[in-house]
Amino acid sequence: MTWDEAFGYRYDDWSAHMTADIAFYVDLAREVDGPLVELAVGNGRVAIPVAQATDRQVVGLDSSPAMLEQARARATAAGVNLDLREGDIRDLALDEPAALIYCPFRALLHLPTWADRRRTFERVAASLRPDGRFAWNAFAFDHRVATRLDGQHQDEPVPHTVHYSVGDNRVDLVLDDGARSTLWWATKNEWLGLLDVAGLKLEALYGGFSGEPFADDAGEYVFIARR
Ligand SMILES: C[S@@+](CC[C@H](N)C(=O)[O-])C[C@H]1O[C@@H](n2cnc3c(N)ncnc32)[C@H](O)[C@@H]1O
Repeated sequence: MTWDEAFGYRYDDWSAHMTADIAFYVDLAREVDGPLVELAVGNGRVAIPVAQATDRQVVGLDSSPAMLEQARARATAAGVNLDLREGDIRDLALDEPAALIYCPFRALLHLPTWADRRRTFERVAASLRPDGRFAWNAFAFDHRVATRLDGQHQDEPVPHTVHYSVGDNRVDLVLDDGARSTLWWATKNEWLGLLDVAGLKLEALYGGFSGEPFADDAGEYVFIARR
């Protein structure tokens, strides 16, 4: 399992602060006129505004029945038609090749190993139109942040404690009720290696969602690749 269902019940509160990425993914979706696919769609936080802005259906893949249920309810409330599918992103298979596949909010980091990510990138490459794009974001590991946060309890956005396991490039976010979200971080060269083995080309690497240049002190990788 790569996702703790118990964490999903607090996901709305957990993700409420994350809004900066929505316009970025919406703009990418507006630029294409073919099928749109969100990997690890979660509660539809991004897929719903993408569907609203483009007036098109978004395919949303996720392995968590609880998250898909939340996405279904939110889409209905918003009057949006999402094509929600239960499945693992490592097994991505589409009936029609996509114009844009995207994966927001660091969700690729829920895959524990490089092999899991390689498999996902290969499935993405096989599922894109010849000129299709793949976009995702992930945090860049920063030892200063790890030193500050490791073992620390925080009240916001949901009371939790952060644990870093540097040897396993892993960070565990443990809510006070025991629910947990685990992320395995990756370096820039790992991401570039994944593009390489999957036969995808780097189109852009930004340091933020407004197209900030990727600087040495960037805290976030914002990638766009093309088949
Ligand atoms: C941080 S949430 C991201 C949700 C949404 N994309 C967003 O931006 O708010 C992570 C999601 O990844 C899903 N997930 C984790 N591992 C997965 C996998 N191997 N296949 C499909 N979904 C997965 C979880 O079920 C969860 O809904």
